[in-house]
Amino acid sequence: MNDQALEVIAKRRAIYPDRFNNEEITPEEVSRLLEAARFAPTHKLTEPWRFRVIMKDSKVEMTRQVKDYIENHTAKPEKGVRIAEKMDQSQAVILIGYQRDLRERVPEWEEMASTAMAVQNIWIYADSLGMGGYWSTGAPAVEAFNHLLELDEGEVILGMFFLGRHDFEPRPRPSTPVDGFTTDWKSVV
Ligand SMILES: Cc1cc2nc3c(=O)[nH]c(=O)nc-3n(C[C@H](O)[C@H](O)[C@H](O)COP(=O)(O)O)c2cc1C
Repeated sequence: MNDQALEVIAKRRAIYPDRFNNEEITPEEVSRLLEAARFAPTHKLTEPWRFRVIMKDSKVEMTRQVKDYIENHTAKPEKGVRIAEKMDQSQAVILIGYQRDLRERVPEWEEMASTAMAVQNIWIYADSLGMGGYWSTGAPAVEAFNHLLELDEGEVILGMFFLGRHDFEPRPRPSTPVDGFTTDWKSVV
C-alpha cells in the first residue's frame, strides 16, 4: 500500500451530528459518495449493500415518524428526542442495509461484512471530500426503520449513517499497534 492511501485511511474519523455546520450537501453529492460503495468486495458478486437516502422533505417526514415510533413502540421511548435531534442536524441520513441473497449462496454474515466494507468506502470518500459522519446502530432507531419502511424480501436495515459538513479537526485516535492484534509468522506454530 502506498503511504498516501494509508494517510487517507488513518485520517477518517467518526464525526457526530452536533459537530455539523449548516452547509448544504446536495442529492447529487450524496449519489457521488455512494459510488464508492460499488467497489467494495463481494463474494459471488451478490452486491448485498442497500442504501436509502433520507434528506430534505423525506427527512422531515421520517424524523416525525421515527420519533413517534420510538416513543410509542420501543423499550427506550426517551431515545426519540435524541434521534430526532441527530436527524435534524444532519444534511442526510443514509440508511445502511443489506439484501440477503434469496438463493443463500453465501452465509449471511458475509453479506453484512461486504456491506460494512461498502460503508467504509463511503466513509473514507466522504472524509476526503470534506464531509463527515458516523455509522449509528442505536437499537430503537434501527427497530423503527425496519418497521416503518417497506423493505424488499430479505432486506435488513443495519443502521444509519448521519452525514454532514463540518469544520472540526479531530485528533488522531489512539489505536493498538500491529503486534497487539497479530500473531506473526514466527509464533504461529
Ligand atoms: C458497525 C458500527 C456501529 C457503530 N455504532 C455506533 C453507535 O451506535 N453509536 C456511536 O456513537 N458510534 C457508533 N459507531 C462509531 C464508533 O463509535 C466509532 O467508529 C469509534 O468510536 C471509533 O472512532 P473513529 O471512527 O473516529 O475512529 C459505530 C461504528 C461501527 C463500525
